[in-house]
Amino acid sequence: MCGIVGYIGKQEKRALLIAGLKELEYRGYDSAGLATLEKKCPVLEIYKTDGKINALENLTQDFTSKGEGVGIAHTRWATHGKPSATNAHPHVYAGSAIVHNGIIENYATLKEKLQKKGHVFSSQTDSEIIAHLFEAQLQAQNLQSAPTKEQALQAFQKTIAQLEGAYAILLINTHFPTCIFYAKERSPLLIALAKQGIFFASAPSALSQASQMVRLEDGSIGVLDLHTPFKLEDLGTPSAVIQDSTQSDLEGFQTLMQKEIYEQYKVLTLLGRIKAQRVHLELPKGFLENLSCLSVVACGSSYHAGLVGKYLIEDLAQLKVQVELASEYRYAHFATQAKELLIAISQSGESADTLEALKLAKSLGLNTLAICNTQNSTMSALAHATLLTHAGLERSVASTKAVVSQILTLWLLALELGHKRLSKQALQEQIQALHASMQAIQDALELHPQIQILSAQILKQNPKGYFFMGRGVFYPLALEGALKLKELAYVHAQGYASAEMKHGPIALADCSLLSIALLPQNLLFSKNLSNVEELRARDGLIFAISPTPIDNATFQIQTKPYPHYMPEFFSMLVVLQLFALEMAQLKGLDVDKPRNLAKSVTVE
Ligand code: M6R
Repeated sequence: MCGIVGYIGKQEKRALLIAGLKELEYRGYDSAGLATLEKKCPVLEIYKTDGKINALENLTQDFTSKGEGVGIAHTRWATHGKPSATNAHPHVYAGSAIVHNGIIENYATLKEKLQKKGHVFSSQTDSEIIAHLFEAQLQAQNLQSAPTKEQALQAFQKTIAQLEGAYAILLINTHFPTCIFYAKERSPLLIALAKQGIFFASAPSALSQASQMVRLEDGSIGVLDLHTPFKLEDLGTPSAVIQDSTQSDLEGFQTLMQKEIYEQYKVLTLLGRIKAQRVHLELPKGFLENLSCLSVVACGSSYHAGLVGKYLIEDLAQLKVQVELASEYRYAHFATQAKELLIAISQSGESADTLEALKLAKSLGLNTLAICNTQNSTMSALAHATLLTHAGLERSVASTKAVVSQILTLWLLALELGHKRLSKQALQEQIQALHASMQAIQDALELHPQIQILSAQILKQNPKGYFFMGRGVFYPLALEGALKLKELAYVHAQGYASAEMKHGPIALADCSLLSIALLPQNLLFSKNLSNVEELRARDGLIFAISPTPIDNATFQIQTKPYPHYMPEFFSMLVVLQLFALEMAQLKGLDVDKPRNLAKSVTVE
């Protein structure tokens, strides 16, 4: 992942670069750095630090870089080498500095070769190799004087030709203080042109000064110079920069996550897709006709949404659905079926594994559908069709409102796929359940004060582990509840299908294990209760989430009763989100930027 920014022009560069990085901080925030060069005195100015962008801002507070020149900057999510100032980008060798997003898979072999030739490396990263290779290529040209731009570009092309893996790279060199060399393969890189200069970034949000941009294709390599006019059309197909600024304020909430949980009801707008008792999806005519089966690929919370979708589609449309982790699908060997549709679900539309799974499905001849929250994302550009989930920009690393919108979209898709077999009455019941679900999302917020008190009590008990259990759609909900708690509160949590307990996990049950049991009234209530009894019989602590009072529960959050299991599902989803939020806050943790994580996972 990581975020990169570049600028060629006459404006003060530090402020521009830091502003750009702040927009990309969701891509990684364990260390950051910037490098500038000015035409009138072409010396590399380098600043690097561990920590978030604020740390870089403080470090550079007395630095300005005015006048014609270039700047590159980077916010890091560590892959090779610990988060530290040394491992932060830009990496410098001789007169060159580079920033890189991606992974150079063959860096160890390349590094060894250069070390044998006397190169000394400063960092443990894979990325540093790029600066060394470039300088080695320049040297190999045996030039008697400073390289020309064409010679440098040739050296850069030879450098890139040696790299295996994924990369978006920006390189600056002291001989070319008005140029940035760039290369792109399987990591996003955008270029925009504005009257203030030329901008490079990993995502549109960091291109706020421009109105038009180009999303580079894989295999793009080149150099841009402030003094060599060019048109965006020369680089690819221009599109509008959609200003999804991530810098807007908290609107009175303590954290972005809380704000995003509290605005989940807004996904109600998705129900606008229901008109005259029929779901209208923005898909090409016939796109959903005569399908033989569906395959769904996604990661993390989006994968959990996909699992919920499986239950809904199989039930309502009687169509077989296979849900795979994108990271497994992309390396699996399988047979496809005629009229099989592949659905890729992703909030960002940029997750590397989901993207590659989508590409694989396309190459196998499948029709593909992206379910995405981000307009203009790589996935929606690639898929045959896209359904936008319209949750609005999600900035907290933990996915909340995006998941709600994904599940809702999949539910609508299930209804559309099943419309021929569903009776008028069945459809009417589903539409009522959809509306009740939106109300349930709102109702559940009233439980927040209780959840806060209960979280403090649970923390005091200090359980050795947290099991989440449910059946049917409540099984993926259990997985999602456990993921939220893990990523935010840094405790060991695991989700299970309730009945699986006795096939192994119950061996852990004792008075220090807390099981969070999802007990809806309208789906297998007594079966679930039996599983709870089995844990209680072994002294396990039970946190019951149910509209029905559970006698032997250690803790309970009593949700509102609804006549259908789906509003119960959404009500419990909100309870689990608030539980994770409170547990993290009580521990004094950074809820919006949990350690080791990033919002957009663009490496595999
Ligand atoms: O952008 P995507 O939906 O493709 O992201 C997938 C996962 O990285 C994401 O859902 C992750 O699991 C979240 N941190 C969960 O809260």
